[in-house]
Amino acid sequence: MALFKRKTKPAAVERVLPEHIGIIMDGNGRWAKKRKLPRSAGHNAGGKVFRKISRYCSDIGIKYLTVYAFSTENWKRPKEEIDALMKLFKDYLEEALRDFKEDSIVVRFIGDKTPFSDDLKALMIENEEGSKDRDGMVLNIAMNYGSRDEIVRAVKNISENVKDGSLDIDSIDEDLISDNLYTAGQPDPDLVIRPSGEYRISNFLLWQSAYTEFVIMNKLWPDFTEKDLDEAIDIFNNRNRRFGGV
Ligand code: FPP
Repeated sequence: MALFKRKTKPAAVERVLPEHIGIIMDGNGRWAKKRKLPRSAGHNAGGKVFRKISRYCSDIGIKYLTVYAFSTENWKRPKEEIDALMKLFKDYLEEALRDFKEDSIVVRFIGDKTPFSDDLKALMIENEEGSKDRDGMVLNIAMNYGSRDEIVRAVKNISENVKDGSLDIDSIDEDLISDNLYTAGQPDPDLVIRPSGEYRISNFLLWQSAYTEFVIMNKLWPDFTEKDLDEAIDIFNNRNRRFGGV
């Protein structure tokens, strides 16, 4: 963990900076409803905040940021809303490579790409390939992501290896399971932030968040600001992390 020094304000306060932050970007629908707008307007506003907060995290020196953009369960939403979301993802991904270049952000997708349209899949791969040699923050965008689905896949992979004799069952340990998840090779999140006041994990990074600090904030995602992120980091700094010890 690095010491946190804000680049944006001169009188910097030193504190511990989480290495990996996860964000459940929740509350877009309620934000739109409050304004009598269609839900898609909430997602559009949320998209702008996604871009702003990603840049800010990179700016202050976060090494890994994972944002929950679309879950394996979100396909149950009305077609109109899904279509609007897919269009929004496409619009953002068309810009993302250029957008995040200045900050040297590495773009990764966690989740199963299979059900997305060919256009969107191609953009996801283009973003991953085009940014993989950068040396900045790793931005994991969770799309068609579900943690249970991720764990099932890991179990299947490992079982295949046991079945074909390339893996001894006694070599299965926690590291091996972590290595078979989408986040293989990355540190577990230190902090997960959920705006919108809901006290739920919603199938997000279940294995990885065994010792994560959760901060729930009473702000809808489209209203979330850099100051809110600072506040979440402050709350994280006031927690006493014991990882099961005393
Ligand atoms: C949950 O709020 C939010 C989503 C399902 C979509 C999140 C997507 C974005 C913020 C766009 C980001 C864009 C990219 C490219 C990553 P909700 O709709 O469940 O809100 P509600 O609980 O108030 O109804």
